[in-house]
Amino acid sequence: MSAIVKDVQIGPCRLILGNALEVMSEIGPVDHIVSDPPYEQSLHDVKNGLKDRNLRTDGGVQLRSLDFSGIDEVRGEFTALAAEICRGWLIVFCTIEGVARWADVINPSPIKYKRGCIWIKPDSTPQLNGQGPAQGAECFVVAWCGSGYACWNAGGKRGVYTHLTNPPDRHGGHPTEKPWRLMRDLILDFTAPDSLVLDPFMGSGTTLVAAALTGRRVIGIEKNPEYFEMAVQRVRKAVASAGATGPQLTAQVQEALL
Ligand SMILES: C[S@@+](CC[C@H](N)C(=O)[O-])C[C@H]1O[C@@H](n2cnc3c(N)ncnc32)[C@H](O)[C@@H]1O
Repeated sequence: MSAIVKDVQIGPCRLILGNALEVMSEIGPVDHIVSDPPYEQSLHDVKNGLKDRNLRTDGGVQLRSLDFSGIDEVRGEFTALAAEICRGWLIVFCTIEGVARWADVINPSPIKYKRGCIWIKPDSTPQLNGQGPAQGAECFVVAWCGSGYACWNAGGKRGVYTHLTNPPDRHGGHPTEKPWRLMRDLILDFTAPDSLVLDPFMGSGTTLVAAALTGRRVIGIEKNPEYFEMAVQRVRKAVASAGATGPQLTAQVQEALL
């Protein structure tokens, strides 16, 4: 019996409601996995200890607790599935401490660990109690699932990306929404226009929005029906926007249309 609960196709984007660990082996090979999976459980525990808090005075999105578990218990199982179905890049976001934990499961697998890269967050929350430095960056691990040499589109560029966490056009429906411009830059640097990209932990669909705007084919999987519906709405808008203006093949943006 299929593990796919719901399957929606919008232009080049396929959105699947279901458990990624059960669905991934059903969808066949993909060129790249670009994903923001749950982070390490230690971070979830800290965030959930803070509970929902109203710290902002500008009407922006508040700190919200996380309604899904950390990656720790399924990191190995997920990596084995990625090795089975992915032919190119595996890119996964994580905490700074999580880079070593990902390397520990990737290194014994057939996937080649490449590097921990950095997302700098110029607008990250200050350390309000003054007891130490605030967190100013998150990481992502890049690893190569293919045979032969790895290749990307960005020459000798450093693996450091700087993007606001809370740009004015942030959707705001998901507690860990990634900036779509950050995901767009990764799609442009790591994938080809005819690539099939998978985000097995799509949340509110930011990777799919970025893929739609850059003209890539993409599959997203999410197990929470509320986030799944949010992703469907966002992807519909992004596909309509790309249809109206053509794909973004450079880092130029169509911000007014999002
Ligand atoms: C870090 S969030 C992704 C947020 C996303 N980048 C965005 O911008 O909205 C991870 C998501 O993975 C989902 N998730 C966790 N375990 C999953 C699983 N086994 N299968 C599918 N989705 C899962 C969670 O519900 C959560 O929405």
